[in-house]
Amino acid sequence: MHMEKSDTLAVLFVTSEISPFIKTGGLADVSASLPAALQQLGVDIRVLTPAYPSLLEALPTTHSHDNLFLSSIGTNVGIIKAIHPTLDIPLYLLDYPPYFHRTGGPYQDIRGKDWQDNVWRFGLLGEAAAAIGCFQLPHQFAPAIVHCNDWQTGLAPAYLHFCKKPHASSLMTIHNLAFQGNFPPLILPRLDLPWEAYNLNGLEFFGHVSFMKAGLQYSDAITTVSPTYAQEIQTEELGFGFNGLLHERREALTGILNGIHETEWDPARDPFLEHHYSRDNLANKSKCKQALKKKLGLDSQNSPLIGVVSRMTYQKGLDLFIEIAPLLISSGAQLAILGNGEAPLENQFRDLASRFPGKIALRIGFDEALAHQITAGADLFVMPSRYEPCGLNQMYSQHYGTPPIVHATGGLADTVADFRKNPSKATGFMFHEPTSQALLTSVKLALNCYQQQASWHKIIKQGMKQDFSWKRNAQQYIEVYNRINVSR
Ligand code: ADP
Ligand code: GLC
Repeated sequence: MHMEKSDTLAVLFVTSEISPFIKTGGLADVSASLPAALQQLGVDIRVLTPAYPSLLEALPTTHSHDNLFLSSIGTNVGIIKAIHPTLDIPLYLLDYPPYFHRTGGPYQDIRGKDWQDNVWRFGLLGEAAAAIGCFQLPHQFAPAIVHCNDWQTGLAPAYLHFCKKPHASSLMTIHNLAFQGNFPPLILPRLDLPWEAYNLNGLEFFGHVSFMKAGLQYSDAITTVSPTYAQEIQTEELGFGFNGLLHERREALTGILNGIHETEWDPARDPFLEHHYSRDNLANKSKCKQALKKKLGLDSQNSPLIGVVSRMTYQKGLDLFIEIAPLLISSGAQLAILGNGEAPLENQFRDLASRFPGKIALRIGFDEALAHQITAGADLFVMPSRYEPCGLNQMYSQHYGTPPIVHATGGLADTVADFRKNPSKATGFMFHEPTSQALLTSVKLALNCYQQQASWHKIIKQGMKQDFSWKRNAQQYIEVYNRINVSR
């Protein structure tokens, strides 16, 4: 097949979720906002993701369709071409109904149990990405780079490595090293990967095949989502077994801070809000608070409102917050909490909320509208994460004039200016030990500041002034792409 050479950098961005159609966390947001920003910078970027029912339903019916032969299943899959309706980015939807046409989430069924065949589902996603990276798709798209994200796409660099024909270079972006996609070695033949990959310098990881390791080992470059996390993952504490490998590959590893999509998250025009406000006109922020309190059934008294929007997992450190919640209530605060995740943590939150009706509002579930309403309506936002590769909520909350209280880790450390360090530059509050005592000290300090209107407004305005857009950092991805692009 003849490929036209052009100066435009062509990138296939591979992801297992994309906002607003299929989302379990920040990966979905980044998989929409980053490609949009790169497209603005002139990159010919196309996003490959599974054709989940929620995506197929949301997209217009006028799309074209290509076939792509994948050897692991010995048959063609469909690649449906569509355009992201709000962001205008080209989407390539991997259509293989036995794997992707089902009710439930991208990784789990409706009861929260992992799909048994995730190994084959995401193996296929990696294989399809590599096949496109080996220029097997009919018509012209010949990516110079296959940009992979997290373990679900980690096999693509391995397939590319073993592809005998000319092929694209690969970039692996780590959004969360704790999720690794480790499976028993016997899966290899069915994935159509050679046994020679199964060794210490390949994708073998403590007697398993690790999709994440495949991505880290076989990619041409690695990025992660904040500079601090890029350092932390080289340590035993936060390397989750990959610290040695990552330290060895440190020349290939770059920490690039995530950006946010300023039009999707903008208090001046957020469609989920009844009232809008901006840095220059904050008057309506208190109306957002009233509307939120009413919606959640919180007592109408005038109290500081602390918000949480989070996956409920060990990572997020919410057990520390549960410990101090009664003290916060007795000091006069109210809490608005939205999240879902691990059942024991959800239950602890349920117990807590039942003890303080009218003071603690808890919603277990995934609710995009409420996430925006809490971000706007709360006075303070809490993120006690034990580790946080980047974190988007602390950026959203600063952008919405809701100062965050965060543990100084990963991207939280890179994006919040701590009151204790310099009150006049502060955008939030930071604590350095992941303990309930340290969290409590920070929340108390924040509640104190909240009582002093003038200095509180200064913190709010300072936060709203920050530029968290991709304009700051998207260019760094292009620099990485150029470094590994061999087709030029
Ligand atoms: P992570 O990806 O680790 O969960 P991030 O801070 O990067 O953390 O991104 C979380 C994203 O998911 C944000 O857009 C946040 O608003 C959203 N989110 C998390 N939990 C919920 C929920 N229960 N309902 C709605 N949105 C949620
Ligand atoms: C992961 C991380 C989170 C990050 C997000 C997007 O889910 O846990 O910190 O912001 O990916 O990169």
